[in-house]
Amino acid sequence: MQIGIIKERRLDEKRVAATPDTVKKFIAMGLKVNIEKGAGITAAITDQEYEEAGASILDDAQRVLENADIVLKINKPIGPRDKDGSKLDEVKLLKSGSILVSLMEPYKDRDLIDLIAKQNITCFALELIPRITRAQTMDVLSSQSNLAGYKAVIEASTTYGKAFPMMMTAAGTVPPAKCLVMGAGVAGLQAIATARRLGAVVSASDVRPAAKENVESLGAKFIAVEDEEFKQAETSGGYAKEMSDEYKKKQTELIAATVAKQDIIICTALIPGKPAPVLLTPEMVDTMKPGSVIVDLAVEQGGNCPLSEPNKVVYRSGVQINGCTNLASRVAIDASALFAKNLLNFVTPLINSSENKIEINIQDEIIVGSMITKDGKVVHDAVTTSM
Ligand code: NAI
Repeated sequence: MQIGIIKERRLDEKRVAATPDTVKKFIAMGLKVNIEKGAGITAAITDQEYEEAGASILDDAQRVLENADIVLKINKPIGPRDKDGSKLDEVKLLKSGSILVSLMEPYKDRDLIDLIAKQNITCFALELIPRITRAQTMDVLSSQSNLAGYKAVIEASTTYGKAFPMMMTAAGTVPPAKCLVMGAGVAGLQAIATARRLGAVVSASDVRPAAKENVESLGAKFIAVEDEEFKQAETSGGYAKEMSDEYKKKQTELIAATVAKQDIIICTALIPGKPAPVLLTPEMVDTMKPGSVIVDLAVEQGGNCPLSEPNKVVYRSGVQINGCTNLASRVAIDASALFAKNLLNFVTPLINSSENKIEINIQDEIIVGSMITKDGKVVHDAVTTSM
């Protein structure tokens, strides 16, 4: 059985789906690992390091993909109509009957998913792995969001024209930056921790009651309308529920009063599968001081601030609004190491080493939650009904 790893060809993607460490583990399970030449270099992994771990380096993506029984990727493969950074039709090169494990953006690109199904690929979308305890070690959304939350604050600090920590000098006192983090999930909590480490005075908002304790344990102030609806707001999957219009109105008023006092705002609020909630209106931005910085991580889902645009810095009333996407790729070495480990943990239960075969338990909650194509069909209910 062969695992294939190719270079990630999407624009600005520096991560890679395997490290020498995960290669060694796959080989110990009896698998062969083929890696496209140069696939790891943007994450500082050389071909030689992969070879020393036991992988074979192949000259091009075609050879890797046409031999692979399992393809591990960071981003969904590039299809025939894809304009994202490369002309190579990776989907066409996938072997019929093979397994693909990757982030798939399953609600965005139905044509691509149909093509993958037609090619008889068993495809797992990593973003659909249920957030249950047993799957925590496979959860790329968490591992990557953690790094993205950290990097969002670092990005904000490099363009903000003032310091984060309070400084008392002979020439005067520099006040600490005030930072608001909207959404205290994985990215938000790491953003809070990072802003605190840099010395900012941090507050954070969320609609899940459980977030309050997390926020406060990091030394930040929790900002939410804590009514009955708020107390019932978490689903059994641990995600936020969509709130009523009445709740949103009350929350908006509370947030508006807080926003006006902030220097830095990091937006990370999201309910999976839904457009990002609009929390930071243009009118609120107008109340902020010139020189303030907003980093909107939710920009790809429409943004928590409607002014934000993917991969652009927009200015409004002297406030900078940065719509960074793929921040994890800007920490590519760590992000690749964690992503590759998540993939290893996902694939390991599928491998029956003693009989040298792949066994997929289609009753398993993790498989049911993440498998989107099989036997020529799209098999995931939410993906089928979303379009
Ligand atoms: P998460 O699901 O762990 O956290 C989202 C949080 O937002 C949850 O705690 C949820 O309760 C909260 N939320 C939902 N509605 C809210 C509202 N109206 N007000 C306040 N909070 C609300 O998600 P995660 O992994 O932290 O990701 C957050 C966002 O960042 C997502 O949009 C994700 O796609 C994006 N992201 C962007 C990256 C980038 O490079 N731009 C990288 C990683 C994540």
